Amino acid sequence: MRTPLCDQFGIEYPIFAFSHCRDVVAAVSRAGGLGVLGAVGFTPEQLEVELDWIDEHVGGRPYGVDTVMPQKAVDVHGADPAEMLEQIRGLIDASHWRYVDELMERFDLPPLPEGAEPHGVLGWTDDVAQRHVDIALAHPIALIANALGSPPPDVIERAHAHGVRVAALAGRAVHAQRHVANGVDVVIAQGYEAGGHTGEISTMVLVPEAVDAIAPAPVLAAGGIGTGRQIAAALALGAQGVWLGSIWLTTAESDASPAVLGAYLDATSADTVRSRCYTGKPARMLRNAWTDAWADPEGPGPLGMPLQNILTSEANARIVRSGRKDLAFAPVGQIVGRMNEVRSVRDVMFTLVEEYVESVERLDAGLAD
Ligand SMILES: Cc1cc2nc3c(=O)[nH]c(=O)nc-3n(C[C@H](O)[C@H](O)[C@H](O)COP(=O)(O)O)c2cc1C
Repeated sequence: MRTPLCDQFGIEYPIFAFSHCRDVVAAVSRAGGLGVLGAVGFTPEQLEVELDWIDEHVGGRPYGVDTVMPQKAVDVHGADPAEMLEQIRGLIDASHWRYVDELMERFDLPPLPEGAEPHGVLGWTDDVAQRHVDIALAHPIALIANALGSPPPDVIERAHAHGVRVAALAGRAVHAQRHVANGVDVVIAQGYEAGGHTGEISTMVLVPEAVDAIAPAPVLAAGGIGTGRQIAAALALGAQGVWLGSIWLTTAESDASPAVLGAYLDATSADTVRSRCYTGKPARMLRNAWTDAWADPEGPGPLGMPLQNILTSEANARIVRSGRKDLAFAPVGQIVGRMNEVRSVRDVMFTLVEEYVESVERLDAGLAD
């Protein structure tokens, strides 16, 4: 499975793992891949703690950080999260607040304990994302990735000055070309079947398009990959490696809540939907009564990023408190249909590699016949 990216990053397998969970990140890197920590849900202070922990537990292996620097963020600024929240709340209209109140009542969501103040996700505002970058670059990372568009030119320049490679996700070949023109080193071509924010072109169609559009720059294939056979297919399509997100959600190292873990284990590949109900941008997650409520033509529909997440932050916290599997936010891709048991990261990595080798041998044997 060796590709030029293995030598560039000093890894054994070109398997890149996106996870919000530090244990997964460290375990993947220790198993010969490259773990990448998603920063968006952390305050800058928390991110510092997570990266210090990874430094101590990654055994000197390379790892990366993923930030979310949206191209068109709302114009909200400040160092104080409470102040930024107030600014964002002020941008939300009364009919949306009413609808969320109505949903919390309809689903009979338990109130939060006295004094609990759900803050929602601020990581996709410019100021917080910039602080994430500052903290990430102060750690010995090998890669910084950006979810929504190319990172700003100064971030790319600073990363390169630190010897850190830059990656960016692309849902279309033209985005891949733009990234490379902006100085991005590795493009993650992420197809429609992926978990989290995702576009409309399938991995099977997107990967070779992106590979041809930016050759010789490297492409990682993402979206719907969870077996060694799919890794073999991705490399056959011209990718130099793979970038997996969903598959780690049901590992023993993942921090998924019991309700969400149960929902993942039970789901089939037909049970996901692309919805704007959590972040404001289309993201793939398990379909449930909450996603249906935001797709209801009688309702006001979701707001954009970052308003929708702030609008629903109390409801989201109350859903978590309720422990209800039928309402929980469960971001995941279509590969969820194969995520039927809890396994260690090491075991998943081993199976991916073993199955890859078997597929390539099978193809070779078929050609030799
Ligand atoms: C729970 C979850 C959260 C995600 N959050 C982010 C994120 O914050 N930043 C990002 O670049 N990609 C994010 N993604 C997308 C992954 O980086 C990756 O591209 C995707 O999971 C690959 O497809 P797969 O889910 O089929 O493996 C997320 C994916 C999942 C499943």
